[in-house]
Amino acid sequence: MKINIAVLPGDGIGEEIVAQALEVVKAVCRKFGHELMYEKALVGACAIEETGNPYPDATHELCMKSDAVLFGAIGSPKYDNDPTAKVRPEQGLLAMRKKLGLYANIRPVTTFPSLIHKSPLKNELIQGADFLCIRELTSGLYFGRPQGRSEDGETAYDTCIYSREEIERIIRLAYSHARKRQHKLTVVDKANVLATSRLWRQVGQQLETEYADVETEYMFVDNAAMQLIQWPKRFDVIVTENMFGDILTDEASVITGSLGMLPSASVGIHTALFEPIHGSYPQAAGKNIANPLATILSAALMFEYAFDLQEEAALIREIVNESLNKGIVTEDIANGKAYKTSDVGNWIVSKIDTYQLGIKN
Ligand code: IPM
Ligand code: MG
Repeated sequence: MKINIAVLPGDGIGEEIVAQALEVVKAVCRKFGHELMYEKALVGACAIEETGNPYPDATHELCMKSDAVLFGAIGSPKYDNDPTAKVRPEQGLLAMRKKLGLYANIRPVTTFPSLIHKSPLKNELIQGADFLCIRELTSGLYFGRPQGRSEDGETAYDTCIYSREEIERIIRLAYSHARKRQHKLTVVDKANVLATSRLWRQVGQQLETEYADVETEYMFVDNAAMQLIQWPKRFDVIVTENMFGDILTDEASVITGSLGMLPSASVGIHTALFEPIHGSYPQAAGKNIANPLATILSAALMFEYAFDLQEEAALIREIVNESLNKGIVTEDIANGKAYKTSDVGNWIVSKIDTYQLGIKN
């Protein structure tokens, strides 16, 4: 099969972790006889430096003509510490999501037995937790206008807007995932306070009868934040709006051991994008210490979602699990010796290269 991808490392540790994920993608393509074509492009702070635009047109064109986008991270302390900056790296990510129509961000949360000791929760609470967060990604507070400051600069405002259509398409997608899993859907909102949340709940209730085989529940976001740490195993599929999803998925990622482990797929109208859920971790940039596994697992999601290549995805996951079990991991999750970013990548690549397909390895 032809695998034609855009590679967007972005900022901070993006370059290092995407380099490892790309080597893994190459190894998988070698193993299964796929023809890989890829091209790199700029997004984020590095794109601002080069072109003045955090999501240059050339990058968008490349994404549009590719079958999938493999993305690292975005952000830089230079902009984080300057609230008056006119252009921000994050605008590149938001523009990319919007222009590619990536309205759903799918974040699978699973536990890795060898990482349970890293969870801030008691082992018995977390062991076996396995759920899917589906975050709306192209609307809500992130995109609602007007947004800005009053003339005297003393007041600021953001706008949260959702249309029925935006809510319906993501809830339907969440139901389709629930049907492939445990047939349970939790719609997270703040319907006791927010008008947008009341529309979410109404749309959910109207769709329920069509998906009668799925058990639907509604939960306020504050309660959901609490239940995620109190009883994570109770969840199967969670669907929620953009901002709530941003917050809840960071919470969800650490309860299973490390933010450095969670991959995600952003899907929608045009080319799908695959990215780790963590940020650009500028303190670690260039040190070869960042955990590449969330990006490598994002590459697994890419094979699965963008190319429907399940065996390829399964192989990556199997070998990532092996690296965890053998302790070939970076310092954030190491229990003894810590390996470098490139050591972890090289180890995984060599395992793929020597893997014998069709034989129990
Ligand atoms: C994420 C990130 C982004 C977001 C930032 C970098 C704009 O936190 O993908 O979760 O808030 O969506
Ligand atoms: Mg986030």
